[in-house]
Amino acid sequence: MSSSRCSYRDGVLQVEKASLPVLAQHFGTPLYVYSRRAITEAWQGFARPLAGTPHLACYAVKANSTLAILQLLAQLGAGFDIVSVGELQRVLRAGGDPRRIVFSGVGKRTDELLRALDAGIHCFNVESETELLRLNELTLARGTRAAVALRINPDVESGTHPHVATGHGAAKFGIDPARAEAVALNMGKFPGICLTGLACHVGSQLVQAAPWRAAAKRLAQLADRLAAQGITLAHLDFGGGFPVRYHDESLPDTGALLKEFRTLAEARGLGMLIEPGRAIVAGAGVLLTRVEYVKPTPHGRFVIVDAGMTELIRPALYDAWHEIRAVISRTEAKAEWCDVVGPVCESADFFARDRRLAVQAGDLLAVMDAGAYGFSMSSNYNSRPRAAEVLVDGEHVTLIRRRETLDDLMALEELLPE
Ligand code: LLP
Repeated sequence: MSSSRCSYRDGVLQVEKASLPVLAQHFGTPLYVYSRRAITEAWQGFARPLAGTPHLACYAVKANSTLAILQLLAQLGAGFDIVSVGELQRVLRAGGDPRRIVFSGVGKRTDELLRALDAGIHCFNVESETELLRLNELTLARGTRAAVALRINPDVESGTHPHVATGHGAAKFGIDPARAEAVALNMGKFPGICLTGLACHVGSQLVQAAPWRAAAKRLAQLADRLAAQGITLAHLDFGGGFPVRYHDESLPDTGALLKEFRTLAEARGLGMLIEPGRAIVAGAGVLLTRVEYVKPTPHGRFVIVDAGMTELIRPALYDAWHEIRAVISRTEAKAEWCDVVGPVCESADFFARDRRLAVQAGDLLAVMDAGAYGFSMSSNYNSRPRAAEVLVDGEHVTLIRRRETLDDLMALEELLPE
C-alpha cells in the first residue's frame, strides 16, 4: 500500500486514519482492510494520462469483485472488464454502466453471451472462431448485432510467472494474428457481428514492458493491414497487466506506457481501451491477521497466523512475495528469522519464508498489498468461513462484506433423506 495510506502513528499501523488494532477488535481477524483513497488515487493515475483521447478504462473485475469496490469504481467513471455472468451481475448490481463493459474469456457459455447481449454491453472480446460463430447465431436469432473485438494472441514471452502469462503462442488465449486477419476479411460470413476492435492481454504483473510493447505494435500493424483492405475499426484494447511493486521490483513507468499506447491508437484515428485490475486495488488493501502460535523447531521458527492460503493464495500459487508488517512495532523485542504460515493443512499454506520479525503470539500482522486477487481468490477450504472486508475512508470505516458464519458454510447443502 502506498505509504501515505498505510503508515505507523505512534508505533501503531493505520490504514488512512483507522487504527488496525481497533479494527481487529471490532471486526475480528482475519480481515481485509481497504483504503478508499488509495483506490481512488490509483484509478485517477490511469484516467489522467488518457484524458482528451477517446478511451475506455475497464477495471478487471476479477482482481477484486466486492460490490462496494465496484460501486466506488463505477462512481469514479470506470468501465469494467468481465469474464463471467457472475461478474456481469456484480457490476450491474453495483451501478456500473453496461455500455462500458467488455466481456473477455475463452469459455463464454451461451447463457452468458445471451445475458450480456440483454444487458447491452460495449463489446465482446472474442477469443476463437467458434465463439464468433456462436455469438453470430445468437444475435441473428434475435435480429440484433453484437460489437466484437478479436483478441489476438501476439505470441510474446511476457517474462511474468508462467501461471499468469497469457500472450505466448502456446497459450489458450486469443487468435493467431494471421488467422484473425482472415476472419476479419471474411466478416460477411457473420452478419450478426460488427467488428469494432482488436484486443490483446499479454499477462499479469508485467514487470517487463518490452513484450507488451511488441504485442501492442502487432495489434496496431494488424489494424493497419485491415485498414489497407478497407476494414476500419473503432478501437484497440491493450489489455491489463500493469504491475505493482510488491517487493523491490523495478517497474516500467505506467504513465509512459499509456502514452505510447495512446500514440499508437491516435495515429490511426482509433480509440483505446485498457483493462487494469491489480494496479487499481493491490496496494489499496491489507490482510490483517493475528498470530496464534510461535513454534520454534530444530529446522526453524514458524509464526502461525489465523489467515492462510484460503484468504491469500498468491504465495502458494505463484510463490508471490508480500511484505509483512507488525501492526504494533515491538522495539523491545529481538527480530528473529521465521516463516509466516497459515493454519491450513497444506505445506503450500505460507505467507512468507525467511523473514526477520519481532512477534509473539497474540500480535497482529498486516500482509501488505493484498487488495488484488486476495478475497476474489479466497475459498472455504478446510471449512473456513470467508473473512470480512472493510473499506476505510479517513476515520470512517464501513463493513462491506460481513464475516461468513458456520451456518453460511453449510447453507447450500442438504443431508440425505432418512
Ligand atoms: N484482462 C484480461 C483479459 C485478463 O485476463 C486479466 C487478468 C486482466 C485484464 C487484468 O490483469 P491485471 O491488470 O490485474 O494484471 N491471480 C493472479 C493474476 C491473474 C490475472 C488473470 N487475468 C495473481 O494473483 O497474480
